[in-house]
Amino acid sequence: MIKDTTYLGKVTNVSAMELDVLVSDEIPSAAPIIDGKQYRIGQIGTLVRIPFGNINLYGVVASVSNIETMEDLKSNKIVMRYTRHLKVNLIGEKIGKRKFQTGIGIFPTIDDEVHLVIDRDLQEIYGESGEDYIEIGKHSSSGYLPVSLDIHKLILRHSAILGSTGSGKSNTTAVIIDKILNKYQGSRIVLIDIHGEYFSAFPTTAKSFRINCSSSPLYIPFWAMTFDELSFFLVSRQEGSERPEDKRLREEIVKLKKENKDHMKSGSVEDHLITADSPIPFDLRKLWYEINREVNATYNTAKESEQNTENEELISEGDYRKLIPARFKDYDRSNRAPFKSKNQTMYAYEKKIYSRLLDNRFDFMFNPGPYKNASMEHDLDEIIRSWISNEQRLTILDLSGVPFELIDISVGLLTRLVYDSMFWGRDEIYTGRKRPLLLIYEEAHKYLPKNESNSHIFGYARKGVERIFKEGRKFGVGAMIVSQRPSEVSDTILSQLGTFISLRLTNSSDQNTIKASAPNNMTSLIDLLPSLRIGEGIVTGESIKIPSRVRVDLHEPCPNSNDPDLVESWKSSHIIDENQYQSVVTNMREQRIINRKEEDNGND
Ligand SMILES: Nc1ncnc2c1ncn2[C@@H]1O[C@H](COP(=O)(O)OP(=O)(O)OP(=O)(O)O)[C@@H](O)[C@H]1O
Ligand SMILES: [Mg+2]
Repeated sequence: MIKDTTYLGKVTNVSAMELDVLVSDEIPSAAPIIDGKQYRIGQIGTLVRIPFGNINLYGVVASVSNIETMEDLKSNKIVMRYTRHLKVNLIGEKIGKRKFQTGIGIFPTIDDEVHLVIDRDLQEIYGESGEDYIEIGKHSSSGYLPVSLDIHKLILRHSAILGSTGSGKSNTTAVIIDKILNKYQGSRIVLIDIHGEYFSAFPTTAKSFRINCSSSPLYIPFWAMTFDELSFFLVSRQEGSERPEDKRLREEIVKLKKENKDHMKSGSVEDHLITADSPIPFDLRKLWYEINREVNATYNTAKESEQNTENEELISEGDYRKLIPARFKDYDRSNRAPFKSKNQTMYAYEKKIYSRLLDNRFDFMFNPGPYKNASMEHDLDEIIRSWISNEQRLTILDLSGVPFELIDISVGLLTRLVYDSMFWGRDEIYTGRKRPLLLIYEEAHKYLPKNESNSHIFGYARKGVERIFKEGRKFGVGAMIVSQRPSEVSDTILSQLGTFISLRLTNSSDQNTIKASAPNNMTSLIDLLPSLRIGEGIVTGESIKIPSRVRVDLHEPCPNSNDPDLVESWKSSHIIDENQYQSVVTNMREQRIINRKEEDNGND
């Protein structure tokens, strides 16, 4: 006899966290109606409850099967019998009135009753969401029951939004940002947006920085790089190389940094503490000018030890700000004065630095506007403040105009500057632990890869972001990665993820990566990944009370990543005009898109 409308069957086998359940054949329907709502028995991914005493254990249905058995009845006839079986992964327990918790203290045993989990039970598990939670959507099974995430764990234990292209990652990211901004007035989020798709989703609530944007230009100054980083991007020096030209470069950079030690708005720095790695402004044009002078000068003496400024055969000083070199009398080829400079150590480096300075695609880094030299008006504090403490709580660092070969170092530098400001400001009342920050990395697989096989990715971004994943929590920095290829993302990052929001994912190696990283008993839920609908996800991990299948809300306006309307645009014929493609070519040359939407709506 059926004891209860939710009664499903009984336990027939228990092994570690896995149960076999025999569905009672007294249940008349595979889709009973309870409290006016229809439930489906044995739906993969749904929950079941195993009560004993005041304890309720919960598990998730992993598989369903119909087993055929033969019975030899008294009549000696062979009768076929079908029994329904479920495999269930245990996930957690609720003792009395206490909160639901993952993990199991007491295991069920043979013949324990198994029940359907109905909305009433789910409400009890979730309880009141309260101020610690943000709601991101509704349970797929219920349609109205909200799914809430513990914001503290979501941010400070780090998270990932994963899914194939078009599965709804950007929308989910936008929903989470929106909920945070609406609920927490002191929140702050920095979003690294390499395709420039997010400003359209937050036109009034975000501050966006972009290369060549006239109102909020993005500058990532080269002088914040370490010597290894800078020398690699400037002159292709390999780490560890200490050839004479490398020593000379280091020496000149230290000299230029020291010249600025008392001219910085944030305060002076003690001379003996300055190294080639110190984030102190200096003018790269000046560096080039000095080196150029050294290589190209002519002298009235042939003795190298006497070839100094006093003995130069100078015609004009030039102007380093305009990249005009100093001019000298031509050297005499018949071994008479003026003599050519004997010091040719920097010959090749001078050429490389000069070509970097001429390439305006690199201006945001090597010619960073007001930050290209030390000044009492503009300093690093202003850059950091503009990114993490501006009039909005969401900052979008739009890297869509950054040349691909600089994406890695750009993300690495941004990350390091933000992280270091939180680390060194950890005891200040306005930042660090007192005002945590979330960094979101869109398209993370592109610059946070498992191994640096791409010729433009050298691990600068990966090392910076891994540091946040390992110890950012202590200084109030949390990270979220968004990616369509989790199998290509750094293992260190994946292993430190507290929360997974996995949307539809079709590639099997990506599914396996999530299986390997998610808690063991979640594999049945992960198996559902290829069959999810757009905007539907499986949420597992620390920030959710019980792993859930969720329909994420739709954020309006959505991030600017919609597919083009192909049919609409192919339906009618297009006009051909000989002036077409000129502006396209200019965009290609300048590496920027002008007349962007953003400029129309006043962000520029
Ligand atoms: N929760 C949702 N409900 C309804 N529609 C959605 C939802 N999420 C996304 N969509 C639709 O799917 C489209 C693609 O979503 P989105 O841009 O978020 O995907 P994505 O995973 O970020 O793709 P990509 O990998 O190309 O960046 C959106 O334009 C939107 O129309
Ligand atoms: Mg996207």
